[in-house]
Amino acid sequence: MENKVKLKGQATLNVDGKEASLPVYGGTVGPDVIDIASLYKQTGMFTLDPGFTSTGSCESQITYIDGDEGVLLHRGYPIEQLAANSDFLEVCYLLLHGELPTAGQAEEFNSTITRHTMLHAQFDRFFEGYRRDAHPMAMVVGTVGALSAFYHDSTDINDPAQRLVASHRMIAKMPTIAARAYKYSVGQPFVSPRNELDYAANFLRMCFAVPAEDYEVNPVLAKAMDRIFILHADHEQNASTSTVRLAGSSGANPFACIAAGVACLWGPSHGGANEAALNMLSEIGTPERVAEYVARAKDKNDPFRLMGFGHRVYKNYDPRAKVMHQTCHEVLKEVGADDPLLQVAMELERVALEDEYFIEKKLYPNVDFYSGITLKAMGFPTTMFTVLFALARTVGWIAQWQEMIGDPTQRIGRPRQVYTGAAKRDYVALNNRG
Ligand code: CMC
Repeated sequence: MENKVKLKGQATLNVDGKEASLPVYGGTVGPDVIDIASLYKQTGMFTLDPGFTSTGSCESQITYIDGDEGVLLHRGYPIEQLAANSDFLEVCYLLLHGELPTAGQAEEFNSTITRHTMLHAQFDRFFEGYRRDAHPMAMVVGTVGALSAFYHDSTDINDPAQRLVASHRMIAKMPTIAARAYKYSVGQPFVSPRNELDYAANFLRMCFAVPAEDYEVNPVLAKAMDRIFILHADHEQNASTSTVRLAGSSGANPFACIAAGVACLWGPSHGGANEAALNMLSEIGTPERVAEYVARAKDKNDPFRLMGFGHRVYKNYDPRAKVMHQTCHEVLKEVGADDPLLQVAMELERVALEDEYFIEKKLYPNVDFYSGITLKAMGFPTTMFTVLFALARTVGWIAQWQEMIGDPTQRIGRPRQVYTGAAKRDYVALNNRG
């Protein structure tokens, strides 16, 4: 990556009688940043920012979010336009290479991804090692890491050609791994990929086809699946992406770095929120009980939060949630489902958007609010929701990992701390303690 930040001025910090002069840089759009790399040298102090609420960790040219305006751009293109006009593999190419592909590039990329979808036959034994009631995410964390034991010809991170092959493999093999995790969890035989199907249709077939009968992919559901993948493809330096970058900053194997991202994504504050949101809607059960749960979410003494609401960066309606809302209606119409949870979700959204607490704290529905209902209508169990998120986010992780490796300013990530533990003291022999 060619660094493009522009020097815009200097910030001065006076502390403890010392003055530090720190460069201020600007990007294409978005807030300027103060470069504090020399702060320790100049003042002997570190900065402290738990949760990184004011801290940028890198320069990036992949994704831009304006949280106040509810804007999400991939390589400059608005997510709404990509969701309406593009397809997931084209978005993958865009994220990886920086530009939309020409017709020839798209054909070559699609063919490359299609030809990498199979897994080594021995790989299936990993799934067999799991308990039959294992959470599919547990299987995905483990098996993605296990890819590093199979594809030795794409693990030299200093070779751009090997990095690209690793990227293609990750994008291509994730649907096969995700579908196997699902099939294993429901006790059905694995279904092999079919090269004549597109990415989303192939994934649906690997999940839902059984040997006992023919399976025809529903084009409306395949389109919805593809759009869901687009909506989750990347989201700049979120927790799992930062995890991938941090893991990768030590020079670790690419497949192991992606496994680290999967692990981070699993949590209910991040990718696990779609599963948690649907569980919450089921628990609420009827629109009449919405007020009770909204009151709980506002109660400081109750740890309950409205799952699928709020976002670290969006202080406006998540643009992905708008597209997801529409997709949800399309899918429900197609499958003829009149899911009572949709009524609960719409009432919850209505009440929360009018409530002073949520207005004041700028808590709006996020992408996970409607994705659970959509995925449920498509036939996925809740335990698969985060797996689908991981499948789609893999391209974001790998694009950000590629960018980091190619960034000349990249160094191993190593945050500091403010230490409040015991000061130096002498060891006490066992019989002198207590
Ligand atoms: N319900 C009720 N109150 C909330 C919620 C919520 N969902 N989210 C935030 N708040 C309150 C919170 O209690 C706090 O109040 P106060 O200032 O009085 O202490 C205030 O809003 C700020 O919250 P925060 O936890 O400091 O904000 P954060 O930026 O650290 O957390 C979040 C962001 C997404 C983790 C949080 O909003 C949340 O837990 N939401 C529910 C989980 C969820 O839907 N996560 C999916 C995020 S989108 C998909 C993804 O990127 O993975």
